[in-house]
Amino acid sequence: MTTPLLSIVNLSVPKKGRAEPLLDKVTLFVEKGERVALVGLNGSGKTTLLGSIAGLFRHEGEIRVEGELLTSKSAATIRGKLGYLFNVPEDQLLFPRVLDDVAYGLIRGKVPLARAHEKALEVLKTLGIEQLAHCTVHNLSHGQKQRVALAGALITGAPLLLLDEPSAALDPVAKMQLAKVLRGITHAGILCATNDLEFARAFCHRYIFIEAGKVVPELVDEAAILARWGLSDGRSPV
Ligand SMILES: Nc1ncnc2c1ncn2[C@@H]1O[C@H](COP(=O)(O)OP(=O)(O)OP(=O)(O)O)[C@@H](O)[C@H]1O
Ligand SMILES: [Mg+2]
Repeated sequence: MTTPLLSIVNLSVPKKGRAEPLLDKVTLFVEKGERVALVGLNGSGKTTLLGSIAGLFRHEGEIRVEGELLTSKSAATIRGKLGYLFNVPEDQLLFPRVLDDVAYGLIRGKVPLARAHEKALEVLKTLGIEQLAHCTVHNLSHGQKQRVALAGALITGAPLLLLDEPSAALDPVAKMQLAKVLRGITHAGILCATNDLEFARAFCHRYIFIEAGKVVPELVDEAAILARWGLSDGRSPV
């Protein structure tokens, strides 16, 4: 049997001062080349789950990336295997100029500046935003910032991409462009938190549904998820 790219077994994240944990015995696996949508209503635990893999939350249970167990000692190595898109792009944009920000993951890895900038331009081109390369990050629109942050997450070619609602601020054209880019990623596994089922359908192989911190194993398709939300017939549930 091959080692899964991401293996999570009985992951629980306790909540201070509350009996119910933020995540409750979550078990899931993502293989290399798999694109998985992590779906769940607001507050269900999607961001907490992605953050746990990056070592941002104290947890119980096992998280392994390429077989390596996440511990306080291995956290930095494991973070090096991740391309992480934060829910709020401002949380990860560090440099004033787009090109420098996108290139940072490579520069940190000691790639020469000129090569890092060249590669950053390539990634911006792939995402259809090369015209933003010399813009000031601060002046970008929210959707532009989200795409720049995504370029920064993609640039190192990390084997595991954790994307927290990458389509949230995108216009319909940008959203479908992004789905196409993600469909073309075969070197990595993708775990993508999203409630945009049209977007997920456009690039994901399967769904993992989470509710109140627990994976609901029987909810594995769009129809079942919509039914759970009371949206099966396309009408408002209220
Ligand atoms: N640091 C924290 N301390 C305490 N509670 C937290 C913390 N971070 C998140 N929570 C709580 O954990 C639950 C899950 O939050 P999380 O952000 O993971 O949900 P989500 O599924 O990503 O929601 P959304 O769709 O709104 O992004 C929420 O009830 C939230 O209030
Ligand atoms: Mg979230």
